Amino acid sequence: MTGIGIIGCGRIAQRRHVPEYASHQKARLVGYFDYMPERGVALARTYGGRVYRTLEELFADPAIDAVSICAANNAHADLTVQALEAGKHVLCEKPMATTVEDCQRMLRAAEKSGKFLMIAQNQRYNTGHMRAKELIAQGAIGTPLTFKTSFCHGGPENWCRYENDDGEIQRDIWFFDKNVASMGAMADLGIHKVDLIQYLLDDEITEVTAKILTLDKRTSDGNLIELEDNALCIYRMSKNIYGTMTVSWTNYGSEDNSTVIFGTKGVMRLYEHPDHTIAISTDRGDKIFYDLDVMMTNEDQRQSGVIRAFVNAIEKGDYSDAADARSVNALRAVLAGFESSREDRTILLRDFHPDPEN
Ligand SMILES: NC(=O)c1ccc[n+]([C@@H]2O[C@H](COP(=O)([O-])OP(=O)(O)OC[C@H]3O[C@@H](n4cnc5c(N)ncnc54)[C@H](O)[C@@H]3O)[C@@H](O)[C@H]2O)c1
Repeated sequence: MTGIGIIGCGRIAQRRHVPEYASHQKARLVGYFDYMPERGVALARTYGGRVYRTLEELFADPAIDAVSICAANNAHADLTVQALEAGKHVLCEKPMATTVEDCQRMLRAAEKSGKFLMIAQNQRYNTGHMRAKELIAQGAIGTPLTFKTSFCHGGPENWCRYENDDGEIQRDIWFFDKNVASMGAMADLGIHKVDLIQYLLDDEITEVTAKILTLDKRTSDGNLIELEDNALCIYRMSKNIYGTMTVSWTNYGSEDNSTVIFGTKGVMRLYEHPDHTIAISTDRGDKIFYDLDVMMTNEDQRQSGVIRAFVNAIEKGDYSDAADARSVNALRAVLAGFESSREDRTILLRDFHPDPEN
C-alpha cells in the first residue's frame, strides 16, 4: 500500500489526482497541503486523510511514501526537490519545470535519493496513444516520415472557475500570469504534444522553428495577456522525421487534440476520426480501426491512467517511466520555440543554451 500526500489542492488535484488515488486499491490518501487550507479541508472531507499546516509537517510524516505535486508551474522544481530530499516518490504535474536548469536539478535530486520521479504527461497513458506506439514500432504505417499534432481549445478560463461558499464565481487565471505560469499555451498544451510525439516515435526533437503569438486573450483591463495564446511549430527529430504542432487557446469551437502520422506505407490518425480512436489507412487501400478510449477534455475528465501508472510503478519497484533526459529535451524544445519566434530562425537544440531567466 502506497501512502499519498497531495501538495496543491486546486483543480487538477480535485478532478484527477485525488479521485484516481481514491479509486486505486493500492493507494491510501494520507493528507493534503495547500497555501489555501480550505482546499485541503474540502478534499479531506470527501476523500479522508488529514490536512497539514505546513509543508514540513507533510514531508516529515512517515505514512507518506509518495506525493503528487499539483501546484502551479513556478513551484514544481522546488517542491519536487524538497519532496525527493525528504525521501518521497514524486508525481509532478506538467510542465516538469520552467527552466532546463530546474529540470536537471530535479533529475539530480531523484538520482541522489533513489526515489521515483515521474512527470504527469498523461497523454502517454491514453490507451489509444499506448497502442499507437506499439503499432508504429511494429511498422503498421512503415517508417514515419512526417506528423501533425494539435492541442487547441478555447483557453483555461472555465477550468479556473471557482465558486466560493457564498456562491460567488471567482476566477484565478494564473495561467495568464508570467510570474506563475512562465509560459502560456506552450506550458499548458504544447508540452503535452512535444512529450507525446517523442514518446510515440521513440525519438527526440533536434530542431525547432516556431511562431509564438498572442492574438486574442485579454486581461480584465482589456490589454492582451503577456503570454502566448497560440503557437505554430515545425519540429525535426533525430531520425529525420519532420512535423508540425499547433497549440491554441483561441479555438472557440470544438476541441482538437489529435495527432496524424504519415509513414512510408500508410497514415495513422489518432483521436481525429469521429468514430474511432485510431484509424489507419494503408498504401494498399486497407482501412484498419481501433476503438479504444475517447480523448478527455477539461469538461469531461476520465481516468487519466497516469495515477494508476505511478502507483503501480512504486508497488512493483519498476521505475522505467521515470523522468529522464528526454523529459528535459521536451522542455528544451518548448523553450527553443520562443527563441525561434523571437529571432525568426530555426534553432538547433544542440546549440541552444537558454538563459534561466527566459
Ligand atoms: N496534466 C494535465 O492535463 C493538467 C491539466 C491542468 C493543470 N495541470 C497542471 O497542474 C498544475 C496545477 O494546475 P491547477 O489547474 O490545478 O491550478 P489551481 O490553481 O487550480 O491549483 C493549484 C493549487 O496549488 C496551490 N499552490 C500553489 N503554490 C503552492 C505551493 N508552493 N505549495 C502548496 N500549494 C501551492 C494553490 O493555492 C492552488 O490551490 C499546473 O502546473 C498545471 O500545468 C495539468
